[in-house]
Amino acid sequence: MAPTAAPVTVRAPAKVNLVLRVGRPRHDGFHPLNTVYQAISLYDDVRVEDAGRWQVSVTPLGDVDCSTVPLDQRNLAVRAGQALAAHHGLRRAASIEIGKGIPVAGGLAGGSADAAATLVALDRLWDLHTPDDELLALAAELGSDVPFSLLGGTAHGTGRGEQVVPVPDAGSHWWVVVPDATGLSTPAVYREFDRLHPDVPLGSHVADPVGLLAALRVGDVPRVGAALTNDLEEPALSLRPELAERCALVRSHHDGPVLLSGSGPTLLAHACSHEAATATRLALLEAGVPVVHVATGPVAGAHVVELAG
Ligand code: C5P
Repeated sequence: MAPTAAPVTVRAPAKVNLVLRVGRPRHDGFHPLNTVYQAISLYDDVRVEDAGRWQVSVTPLGDVDCSTVPLDQRNLAVRAGQALAAHHGLRRAASIEIGKGIPVAGGLAGGSADAAATLVALDRLWDLHTPDDELLALAAELGSDVPFSLLGGTAHGTGRGEQVVPVPDAGSHWWVVVPDATGLSTPAVYREFDRLHPDVPLGSHVADPVGLLAALRVGDVPRVGAALTNDLEEPALSLRPELAERCALVRSHHDGPVLLSGSGPTLLAHACSHEAATATRLALLEAGVPVVHVATGPVAGAHVVELAG
């Protein structure tokens, strides 16, 4: 029996997609993607400690509804822990406490953040020193967004989203994040994309977003804003027509681009300054939107933190 170590806490960020281009589904059912991810300053904190069996708990950090997060082996954090133990041939288990600041089922990769944080936390708790390429491979098996949650910053994603390469990003971006009370199922949004686009040409997603990548490199934040696009916005709005009204409301209070985050239903307004983002947030709260966050990007991927107490 290995000695019991002190608990470890890892913080992992939400992600947004600056560009999300979707191709025709592959033979395995996944869609080929050409995307640019950015990690933003909404976080989940994951605390792990040794335990006789796998356990997970979830506590909201602020205004987040956690009631739909599974608290059994379906939880992606538990699956991440089990995958890491199996990778090293360990018969160990852990208790995983998730502090949730990332809206659930919102298209912000909150579950992926928890999985990435658990990999990093248990790697430290158990003193495993897993090489980065092995952690990234484990992450890719857990979900398409998990490798990016490890990496953070800004990155170009291909394959089904799991192949990530960091890209230079010299700007500071501000995001007004408008969650929706009811989550959207990612597979359902992809299915709706297929229904709306039965004849999407093979390889239609493959052109790299060169204009966006150039604007990121030189820190031209307005030009980044002008290049934002998401192929999943149309199918998400088709499944949830009331989101179009929410989108119009956000647009009427924001001087800048507004788009869907990932597979939704969270909406994002892109701003060039903290002041502009805060002004939009206050206007939306006054207009009756119950929860609005302001976040900045890019920020670091999953990393160990010292928490008081
Ligand atoms: O990889 P992840 O587990 O996050 O994917 C969840 C679901 O989203 C998949 O089961 C699939 O239905 C859909 N998906 C897809 N193409 C992708 C990523 C996800 O069809 N590139």
